[in-house]
Amino acid sequence: MSIQQEKIQELIEKRAEARLGGGEKAIQKQHERGKYTARERIAQLLDEGSFEELDMFVTHRCTNFGQDKKHILGDGVVTGFGTIEGRLVYVFAQDFTVFGGSLSETMAQKICKVMDLAMKMGAPVIGLNDSGGARIQEGINALAGYSEIFQRNILASGVVPQISAILGPCAGGAVYSPALTDFTIMAKGISYMFLTGPSVVKTVTGEDVTQEQLGGASVHSTKSGVTHFVAENGEEALMIIRKLLSYMPQNNLEETPLVACNDPIDRLEDSLNDIIPDTAKKSYDMYEVIASIVDNGEFLEVQKDYAKNIIVGFARFNGQSVGIVANQPKVLAGVLDSNASRKGARFVRFCDAFNIPLVTLVDVPGFLPGTGQEYNGVILHGAKLLYAYGEATVPKVTVTLRKSYGGSHIVMSCKQLRGDVNYAWPSAEIAVMGAEGAVGVLYAKEAKSQADPAAFIKEKEEEYRKLFANPYNAAKYGYIDDVIEPRNTRFRVIRALQMLATKKVSNPAKKHGNIPL
Ligand code: HXC
Repeated sequence: MSIQQEKIQELIEKRAEARLGGGEKAIQKQHERGKYTARERIAQLLDEGSFEELDMFVTHRCTNFGQDKKHILGDGVVTGFGTIEGRLVYVFAQDFTVFGGSLSETMAQKICKVMDLAMKMGAPVIGLNDSGGARIQEGINALAGYSEIFQRNILASGVVPQISAILGPCAGGAVYSPALTDFTIMAKGISYMFLTGPSVVKTVTGEDVTQEQLGGASVHSTKSGVTHFVAENGEEALMIIRKLLSYMPQNNLEETPLVACNDPIDRLEDSLNDIIPDTAKKSYDMYEVIASIVDNGEFLEVQKDYAKNIIVGFARFNGQSVGIVANQPKVLAGVLDSNASRKGARFVRFCDAFNIPLVTLVDVPGFLPGTGQEYNGVILHGAKLLYAYGEATVPKVTVTLRKSYGGSHIVMSCKQLRGDVNYAWPSAEIAVMGAEGAVGVLYAKEAKSQADPAAFIKEKEEEYRKLFANPYNAAKYGYIDDVIEPRNTRFRVIRALQMLATKKVSNPAKKHGNIPL
């Protein structure tokens, strides 16, 4: 064997060693936990054979607690680049088989390197998290490493899409990197996110909780809203990332890729002409409306189990990616509350940051009243949604299906918040409030002096409905651009989006706004 061949052999052996991470036993343990290894996950995530690994030979520099005798090539994270549907992405996958995926100074440097490349090249960053948190033996250097990552998350926000999958533990301050990214995906049974684990909780508050109860996928998808998607397992989580990216541009300066559309743009959906019930007290399912107007009925819902009174997610119209925001009359009559406002606002801001037009479907009776909401700061949360729509400069198409009352009318992408095209169905009711509430305020005293107060109130309600419970009052002032036949909604939305394709609007120059957080 020549010297060169010997050196090549050495490289091959080193690579094989690095690919084994924490070793056969640790890999077996990982599989027994129902989890894949970092490299297996990357292979599932990316287009076949597209992964190019970087920094395979990095090892930590720690000498505390006997760490100088424990070096594993790659040091607990696999990083590099590859493609998804042929488009460049950067990826880092924490390797739980190496020191429990815990974050060392050098591991952070590896992650930062791919984040820096992603920013330079304008491509998404995907983080696959599976880690015991800061590497305890490294102390402050591990914390510094986290801080470097967070700083990059912040600077990359709104520049390149950032997606985090939680595929194991994610504890302590480590949760803040996923929280700073655009979308978080958890998998049932293997993903946990919490600031302090069950034992610390027990010590501090006396509360007995399991990891699942404290920060499992169901908690973060239904109660906290921390996660945007829940997958049945780790593999499905990675497939969600692939799908999600298909709706996004590579960066904030690009448009989303147009997808070939075989769904006719002028497809009439007769069922929509019958979907609104005769009485305002009955509901219908907004999902049916969404499915019947978007391309091939395909809708990728975001945060589907959180604040179900508002629906947000991605779809396409004639191959053009859009963000859909819709009230759901089936849940709490589609009322806006604190959680729905926060959910809507974050989604609207994401779409605006990445040039994804917004299609808003309105059926909203108002904001949820009461001390529960007021004490919870619904004023600030509602203002977030208002702010998000008002600052958004992407094309905004709004269709009002039924109710659109008061403050909630304004918040849901009305004309004066720079809604570009605002349509309404003939069933739309656009007013300050519903008939019952309005008549209660206007005629309560007068009703008392009537021979038949109930009949009087009914008559006044009818009068109010005739005057305000229709779209024409708003159309009269140009606040609604047209009243459209429901079955024609798909075609009208597509024509509006086509017309808006070259929209250019900018906000006043400023350092940044002060969204009511
Ligand atoms: C160093 C760690 C580690 C850590 C795990 N390991 N966490 N090594 N630093 N933070 C090592 C273990 O010693 C073990 O090594 C191997 O990884 C696998 O861990 P196990 O405990 O055997 O696995 P499991 O039973 O599945 O438990 C996983 C775990 C647990 C729940 C994550 O390891 C754990 O509680 N770790 C500590 C979590 C934590 O408190 N981290 C600090 C959070 S504070 P061997 O050699 O035995 O295989 C934080 C601050 C960040 O992160 C602040 C950022 C701003």
